[in-house]
Amino acid sequence: MYKKALFLVIAISLFLTKARADEGMWIPMLLKKYNIEEMQRLGFKLTAEDIYSVNRACLKDAVVIFGRGCTGELISDQGLVITNHHCGYGQIQYHSSVKHDYLTNGFWAMSQEEELVNPGLTVTFLKRMEDVTTQVLEGVTDQMSLKERDSVIVKNMTAIKKAAIKDTHYKAVLKPFFHNNQYFLFVNEVFKDVRLVGAPPSAIGKFGGDTDNWMWPRHTGDFSLFRIYADKENQPAEYSKDNVPYKPAMHFPVSLKGVKEGDFTMVFGYPGSTYEYVPSYHLEMLTETINPKLIDVRTEKLRIMNRYQEADAKVRIQYAAKNARVSNSWKRWIGENKGLAKLNAINKKKAFEQSFQQWVEVNNDLNKKYGDLLADYKKLYQEYTTYRLAGDYTSELIYRNGIEIAKLAGSFDALAELYKAETKDEKAIAKLKETLSKAAKLYFKDYHLPLDKEMTAMLLDRYRQNVPADFHPNIYQTIDKKYKGNTEKYVDAVFKKSNFINQQQLEALINNFNEKQIKILEKDPAFLLFMSFKELYKTTIYKQLKSFNQQLAELNRLYMAAQMKFEKDKVFYPDANFTLRVSYGQVKGYKARDGVFYDNVTTLEGIIEKDNPDIYDYRVPEKLKELYKKKDFGRYEVNGSVPVCFVATNHTTGGNSGSPVLNAEGHLIGVNFDRAWEGVMSDLMYNPEQCRNISLDIRYVLFLIDKFAGAGYLLDEMTVVE
Ligand code: ARG
Ligand code: ASP
Repeated sequence: MYKKALFLVIAISLFLTKARADEGMWIPMLLKKYNIEEMQRLGFKLTAEDIYSVNRACLKDAVVIFGRGCTGELISDQGLVITNHHCGYGQIQYHSSVKHDYLTNGFWAMSQEEELVNPGLTVTFLKRMEDVTTQVLEGVTDQMSLKERDSVIVKNMTAIKKAAIKDTHYKAVLKPFFHNNQYFLFVNEVFKDVRLVGAPPSAIGKFGGDTDNWMWPRHTGDFSLFRIYADKENQPAEYSKDNVPYKPAMHFPVSLKGVKEGDFTMVFGYPGSTYEYVPSYHLEMLTETINPKLIDVRTEKLRIMNRYQEADAKVRIQYAAKNARVSNSWKRWIGENKGLAKLNAINKKKAFEQSFQQWVEVNNDLNKKYGDLLADYKKLYQEYTTYRLAGDYTSELIYRNGIEIAKLAGSFDALAELYKAETKDEKAIAKLKETLSKAAKLYFKDYHLPLDKEMTAMLLDRYRQNVPADFHPNIYQTIDKKYKGNTEKYVDAVFKKSNFINQQQLEALINNFNEKQIKILEKDPAFLLFMSFKELYKTTIYKQLKSFNQQLAELNRLYMAAQMKFEKDKVFYPDANFTLRVSYGQVKGYKARDGVFYDNVTTLEGIIEKDNPDIYDYRVPEKLKELYKKKDFGRYEVNGSVPVCFVATNHTTGGNSGSPVLNAEGHLIGVNFDRAWEGVMSDLMYNPEQCRNISLDIRYVLFLIDKFAGAGYLLDEMTVVE
């Protein structure tokens, strides 16, 4: 008994002083200090310097931010980048039309000349990072007011960033870590000529669609290929036909060796945001109010979109990316609520808070500093929740794939403002007109008015039912007075009278815009609709939310620091903040629910099993079926099939999509693209039993490029390890 207890004490303290596998998104430059031993114990064969170094080429040089919210990695010395299909989706859709439907049929450039240019798309390399906490906090004292503190910090940050990139073409980013307890500087290099090289048909790249999204077992070939171009000096440049493929300092060798249960895996990418250190009140807010309300409104959005998309092939393409965006968080929220409930997360937090409070209260100093923290949180969340709901719900209406016509009309507010300014800035006006005109073109390319109309009526009604009356903008008075509360009649009128329903009319408005047109704009019903929500947001919601968020940030800063003191032997990882991180773990199946255990890999068999010509998400392309029938698997064959996806215990989140998944040698074995449904609450609380990241097996990628697409020439530029 005694021995057992002693063993337990030792085991627990060992467990606490070393970073653990599975949970955690670690800072590359600190691996040496906290993680590398553990990683090596799990089988990793490289050193911390191999992953991150400022003195020589290392793995970090092969990882990029793809676009604005994804990760990608270099897989050849000619700038070839792989990321997810869903990360390149916007670009694939951009180049698609009913005639050249790359979404449906896939796209493969058969030579570099055929690669497609993507205006606005960038990839970003990290050159170096640095802990600048001391410099950022220079001059900050405990006696300062929050405002003073803030202004010192902002000033310091600006100076640090400026100095860091002086006389270079680099970009500096400075981000708080551990809720403003630490600060890191990132010096980045951004490339702007990134061309589409290849993408499988959606029936592969999005196989299983939103039905399988966030789910394991998974069979999605979620990848697309791009190429970075640079000028003759290998420097970033705007698109030019004279640009040449970029020569990276490092690219990942691609391994055909595959994975098995227990193998070491590492994910190296850009996780977006996590909330691991929040108090129980935050979880209550999400699970009881925010998630249920947002799930409900998006269920309705999807119902409308799906119906129109099923009825019309053109609408299906137009709303493909919009639908995916709405569906993605909708489904994650559902999973998050289930996962937190199953984990009993709120009670776990409460128990933690209780022992934290006890620890605080026995010490005078601590008590003075942290004694009221939890009570303050409690009070704040009570008010914050309603405002957050109103804020989120407003965004669901006028920003996040809500009332499209209102969002479009609203974008003209800035133009009106420019005209109203005392001294007119003609240059800014011309530029904005050009931007608006471009945006309008893109808007109408993907716009279906009857859908938007139905959406508008639904959203206005839902908002009224779900958001407290204090937050109802004055447009509801118009609806009630002029239309006797009949939302549909009101919406009919909006869509009849607005200038924002057709492109020519809008072009004319933009071209002829002057002081007089401001009146027309300000009477436009779509503009009025937008402005009524925007006004409400500005006057009633935003100011409060901003103040709540500041108060929360301050509580978070204190609570984070306090938690680190409370568990002083634990190695903490900072919440994700879209900076480069390392997650490591093992290939591992899991018990999904009572009586159900999931294997760690899926294969081509499963794709054939799911095949169903009657269900859009499960139509397997003929060519793939043929390859399957002929068993034409080439060197990608394993036990009579081809591996497709695998799961592992790497802690990942949104933003990690497209991240390289590496084996013990640092070779590419997969591309991360999702998490398993049972574990999506990992953004708030990680459960090693159920949290799994889902990766595309790189052998499936190579099989598709080689056998399915016949673009085998691309393999020639990769470094394939047999
Ligand atoms: N769930 C994955 C992630 O958050 C994939 C999303 C794209 N796919 C989709 N079916 N919506 O990015
Ligand atoms: N699918 C997510 C992404 O796009 C990854 C995740 O949330 O696990 O980044």
